[in-house]
Amino acid sequence: MSSIRLAIVGCGGMGHRHLYGLGELHRQGLSPFRLVAACDPNRGNAESLADDAAELFDHRPAVVTDLDALAEVGVDAIDTPTLPRVHHDVAIGALERGWHCMVEKPVGLTVRACNLIAAAAKDRPQVLSVAENYRRDPMNRLARALLDAGVIGDPRLLIHHSMGGNGNRMLISVWRHQKNQSGLLLDVGVHFTDMMEYLLGPITTVYAQTRLHEKVRINPAARGDASASNPAGVYGKWQKEMPAEFEATAEDAAYATLEFASAASGQYIEDHAIHGEGSWLRQIQGSIGSMNLPPDRRGAPLSLNIEGKEIDGEGALELVPDFHLDEATAQLFGGERLSRYDFEFPEIDRKVIATEYADFGRAILEGRPPEVGIEQGTRSVAVSYAMMESGQSGQIVTIDDVIGERIDGYQAEINDDLGI
Ligand SMILES: NC(=O)c1ccc[n+]([C@@H]2O[C@H](COP(=O)([O-])OP(=O)(O)OC[C@H]3O[C@@H](n4cnc5c(N)ncnc54)[C@H](O)[C@@H]3O)[C@@H](O)[C@H]2O)c1
Repeated sequence: MSSIRLAIVGCGGMGHRHLYGLGELHRQGLSPFRLVAACDPNRGNAESLADDAAELFDHRPAVVTDLDALAEVGVDAIDTPTLPRVHHDVAIGALERGWHCMVEKPVGLTVRACNLIAAAAKDRPQVLSVAENYRRDPMNRLARALLDAGVIGDPRLLIHHSMGGNGNRMLISVWRHQKNQSGLLLDVGVHFTDMMEYLLGPITTVYAQTRLHEKVRINPAARGDASASNPAGVYGKWQKEMPAEFEATAEDAAYATLEFASAASGQYIEDHAIHGEGSWLRQIQGSIGSMNLPPDRRGAPLSLNIEGKEIDGEGALELVPDFHLDEATAQLFGGERLSRYDFEFPEIDRKVIATEYADFGRAILEGRPPEVGIEQGTRSVAVSYAMMESGQSGQIVTIDDVIGERIDGYQAEINDDLGI
């Protein structure tokens, strides 16, 4: 296959960001794809993406509104930055048509939705990749290499604290505050649960308290206030059309204790309703030292403390002489061995998304599994829901029970709403 005929299915904010990532890969001469179609039931969104694509490539992709029309265009693979509610329908529809598929996170809206995708993928030859981008940040690659090399000894405790959200303001869009569409603890949380397992391996149990602090959210963009949360600057035109105020139904904070299979412990705070000072801490305490990781996709260096001695990012790099980034990441970020990088967020965003496409393309061409497949994608969703299941029941929850759908009291209402 000389070039993989690709369609982007879902042409909203992340669809446009994916396009810019694909453009970045193309600009670097690394893309095995040819974008042949933009697909979205909202034709205007697909037209907008096709217009932007015409600026990046030597052609304008076809515009279609459903998968049947996409089949007429002829595709080998699709990328699905659609609404989480429809991920399972779109992914299963693609697999049944014989297409490779890269699904945005969360891979399914509930664990059952993930399991349905897994069942459809089983025994099919196509690649099913999950677009989980945080782990691909070069700083997180370095952190993992340092852990693998035993630089801080055996990890004992992971602390993940992420607090922000500007009080009662809308985060990006209304749907991120709705339980049956993918609330914040899933939409954002799934990145963090993937990162915790990427760094320290499988999580086995969760005990959590969850809260819906802000029952009414306000959307500053509806009143012409440009300070709305708008990653990569792509969401403004849609935010202006969203309601100025709306009811939130999904929890916006989780406070949890986790256990890893390795016997390490985790302390997790994810709070999107902070009115005071926000904070970030991702720290791993080990048997001979500790590591502090920077926020994802910012390029700030990590730091170590080994037996009381402070080690900066450059010093950390020296401790892993064999560490190097994969070819695509190295070319995109400007070096095989990086202890920091300096780009504005939209450029970082493009580069990280480009690495997802690079992995997806290589998996298709080489017939190998992608870095993040349905199993890991499902685990990240399950750990996020384990917090909500535990928050509802007040019990310690095992991840195996959530993946096996033996514990799904919180998700039952969403599954009913999805009709699955
Ligand atoms: N990895 C990240 O950093 C990151 C960031 C933002 C969003 N996301 C993910 O990307 C996905 C989309 O988020 P978004 O911010 O672009 O949302 P969005 O609301 O901006 O866009 C969603 C798009 O999907 C379209 N859509 C709805 N039903 C569809 C269907 N059946 N088939 C095809 N398209 C359909 C909508 O019309 C809209 O254009 C979500 O899964 C979200 O979690 C990931």
